[in-house]
Amino acid sequence: MSSFIPGFNDTLNSKAQFYLELAGQCAALLQGQRNLVTNTANVSSLVYHSLLETPTREGKPVNWAGFYLLDPKQPGTLALGPFQGKPACTHIAFGKGVCGTAASTAESVVVKDVSEFPGHISCDAASKSEIVVPLKAPGSGAVQGVFDVDASVVDAFDDFDRIGLEAIVGMVAEASDF
Ligand code: SME
Repeated sequence: MSSFIPGFNDTLNSKAQFYLELAGQCAALLQGQRNLVTNTANVSSLVYHSLLETPTREGKPVNWAGFYLLDPKQPGTLALGPFQGKPACTHIAFGKGVCGTAASTAESVVVKDVSEFPGHISCDAASKSEIVVPLKAPGSGAVQGVFDVDASVVDAFDDFDRIGLEAIVGMVAEASDF
């Protein structure tokens, strides 16, 4: 298949390679650390800067990356956790916006164009596309939060990004105490 499309293999390989290396760096950051705030803070920074710097994302700049975590005081609500980027909305209810949808369905959501997503919550007007991955407790699979990445261009995320980010968020879940 790949030999029929010039450069297809290279694109596949470079994006796969990028996420494999990112997962390796993530594992090193999480080593021996079980504090959820510490782990989500470091991984937000690693992913944000890596996505900004990698040549595999030329022309698809990210402008926000961070976690929303379950608010113990408000059941069914996500509270802003560690992130990189401009100040953001502080609380999102399950079922609301892209984050709330990923939390209530426990499924990743990839939005090609946020202006076409009913109920999208705009925290930064520069955000044009978005991907949100649920953070699930190992074993029970109960949603403990979400990881949200925004980009300032439409159609910035594909299945590679979803698979890569799901692997990294899964590592955070395995390494952290809830
Ligand atoms: N756009 C998100 C809200 C969070 S900001 O992007 C940081 C949403 O619709 O849920």
